[in-house]
Amino acid sequence: MIALKGVSKGYDAVSAVENVDLTIPDGSIFGIIGRSGAGKSTLLRVMSLLEAPDAGEVFYGDERVDTLRGNALLQRRRRMGMIFQNFNLLGSRNVALNIAYPLEIAGLHKRQIHERVDELLELVDIQDKRKAHIRELSGGQKQRVAIARALAAKPEVLFCDEATSALDPQTTRSILALIRDLHGKLGLTVILITHQMEVIRAVCQDVAVMEAGRIVESGSVQAVFEAPKTTAAKELIGG
Ligand SMILES: Nc1ncnc2c1ncn2[C@@H]1O[C@H](COP(=O)(O)OP(=O)(O)OP(=O)(O)O)[C@@H](O)[C@H]1O
Ligand SMILES: [Mg+2]
Repeated sequence: MIALKGVSKGYDAVSAVENVDLTIPDGSIFGIIGRSGAGKSTLLRVMSLLEAPDAGEVFYGDERVDTLRGNALLQRRRRMGMIFQNFNLLGSRNVALNIAYPLEIAGLHKRQIHERVDELLELVDIQDKRKAHIRELSGGQKQRVAIARALAAKPEVLFCDEATSALDPQTTRSILALIRDLHGKLGLTVILITHQMEVIRAVCQDVAVMEAGRIVESGSVQAVFEAPKTTAAKELIGG
């Protein structure tokens, strides 16, 4: 379980996240939705320990993690994978070497890396692109490479920040189907942030709605869709 207790985070005069309490059960596929500037990416960076909160606490199970530093922080972060809207791949490396990158950092031997990269290429179904350059790939293929790289070190949690926002509707569906499939196959906890209600509807079990740095509503996707309580949720569903 991932739990946030009274988490706040600001930048200069901007309060990006304000007093957020949130519990995400292990193995769930959890959506966080809100319009641009609502604080979703900031919340994700605090949850994934890329940034420390100004106030509040972050727990993974019983362990408080927002206070981790140095090696303990690195070890904890190795148990998470992340994917983004703009893929963040290394243009100077081909597909296999992008996927291999975290494994090199983790100090695996060449042979182990080769075997693991083969497994991952199969997992995301791009075996034929092993030697391709990143610039030769479509957006959907790039996101598959990014997913393979994110999963390389066998994380327990996958964070997705607008992972399908740069993709066309059909490619979006195929990437969401892949994420759903991987969630089932690997028993991952998936935390997915988006401004698109269709994305939540397609993959998530539970959803939290963010507005101006706060979580204004949360519950099962079905409940929030059928009877949105807040204006923010109504607007996101309606538009
Ligand atoms: N590094 C930063 N420095 C200054 N302000 C920031 C920084 N990151 C975010 N903010 C501000 O914090 C608020 C929340 O931003 P955040 O990126 O978390 O929103 P978001 O919900 O992810 O939006 P989007 O859907 O556009 O990605 C915004 O007002 C933003 O301008
Ligand atoms: Mg964002």
